[in-house]
Amino acid sequence: MYYHSQQQQRVKRRARGGGRSRDSSDGFRVYVSGEQQEQQRRYDSDSEQKVTPCTDFDMAYFHSYAHIGIHQEMIKDRIRTETYRDAIMQHHNCIEGKVVMDVGCGTGILSIFCAQAGAKRVYAVDASDIAIQANEVVKANNLSDKIIVLHGRVEDVDIDEEVDVIISEWMGYMLLYESMLGSVITARDRWLKRGGLILPSHAALYMAPVTHPDRYSESIDFWHNVYGIDMSAMLPLAKQCAFEEPSVETISGENVLTWPHMVKHVDCYTIQIHELESVTTRFQFKSMMRAPLHGFAFWFDVEFSGSGTQPTNGHVTGLLSCSSNSLPLDGSQRKKKMNPNDALVLSTAPEEPPTHWQQTLIYFYDPIEVEQDQLIEGSVTLSQSKENRRFMNIHLEYTSGGRSFVKESVMR
Ligand SMILES: C[S@@+](CC[C@H](N)C(=O)[O-])C[C@H]1O[C@@H](n2cnc3c(N)ncnc32)[C@H](O)[C@@H]1O
Repeated sequence: MYYHSQQQQRVKRRARGGGRSRDSSDGFRVYVSGEQQEQQRRYDSDSEQKVTPCTDFDMAYFHSYAHIGIHQEMIKDRIRTETYRDAIMQHHNCIEGKVVMDVGCGTGILSIFCAQAGAKRVYAVDASDIAIQANEVVKANNLSDKIIVLHGRVEDVDIDEEVDVIISEWMGYMLLYESMLGSVITARDRWLKRGGLILPSHAALYMAPVTHPDRYSESIDFWHNVYGIDMSAMLPLAKQCAFEEPSVETISGENVLTWPHMVKHVDCYTIQIHELESVTTRFQFKSMMRAPLHGFAFWFDVEFSGSGTQPTNGHVTGLLSCSSNSLPLDGSQRKKKMNPNDALVLSTAPEEPPTHWQQTLIYFYDPIEVEQDQLIEGSVTLSQSKENRRFMNIHLEYTSGGRSFVKESVMR
């Protein structure tokens, strides 16, 4: 999770100088990022695996993760944290005695769960200064012999062995905001053993049309009568301020007008970085009721399954050896959402208990009155901003009742 719309307020982290890496006696290693020339050299010369350069925007992004509040909010999200812990315990036979990499370890919590599940060694990597705290937490829990904290970008760190398991909590709002999945792919292609495990293994982003009269009313209708004064002249500004940008908020299943449409399915074993630059899908919904249509909601699921296929040099090869149902589920796990293959699912859908990701809403400036069975058709393109790949451009085209609209917004 990364707080959006706050980028401008963040201070750019100063690039560190010095050598490539520095080891301390407890295994904590600091890697230098922001060495522009060295990065450019690697970027130019390494034709097989291009290293994404670390920009000032990336530095600001990592700086935002140095704040304790963001980690507290993520850890307090019990749906998130307990599903990860359950998934780790459920896959304990793939983790016990094995080497794990935690991509973006934050405070180190997932690395510690992996150590508790019996990992032989965990490389806990984070480019943010929160890695310093992660190392303290590891020491205080007497896990320095198992967990090696690497303070640097996963794109820049070096390790001397392949890993059996990659774990990462990389999902941003609308799944792809913050563009962290690319770093997981980099780690997979550099270090994951053939047949290794990735947690989570799959993800899916969904969208659906929504009605939300209360939200519209409190932001917009309010201006019609303010202490008996007609302030309708404020309406264009009110609509712009309320609905220009995507809005992260919690809705319920009752706001959703149709079954959802899957915008993007991600197989973490096979997806390639270039596929994330831009995602386009066409949708067609049939409204299940008569209602004012206020916009579209987006949400995602991730799945923790051991099965899948892993690419070798871009080619998909055999089935993975590590299965997920290796630990009998206890009561708490049985309550968790499972898919038909019995894989654990972390869902941020409106009908599920809320998480800190909530849902992301793209509101129209004016609602469209739709009848039952009326079609709502169009397309959406989500693309990484050219200016800052952590931002997401959203281009929506939609038609209903013979009228067509276009909406551009940026999640920043
Ligand atoms: C959503 S937080 C998850 C933290 C922790 N794993 C947890 O579950 O509580 C993502 C973390 O990944 C780190 N991160 C993002 N991209 C990274 C990269 N390319 N290299 C190293 N760390 C990265 C961020 O600094 C942040 O601390």
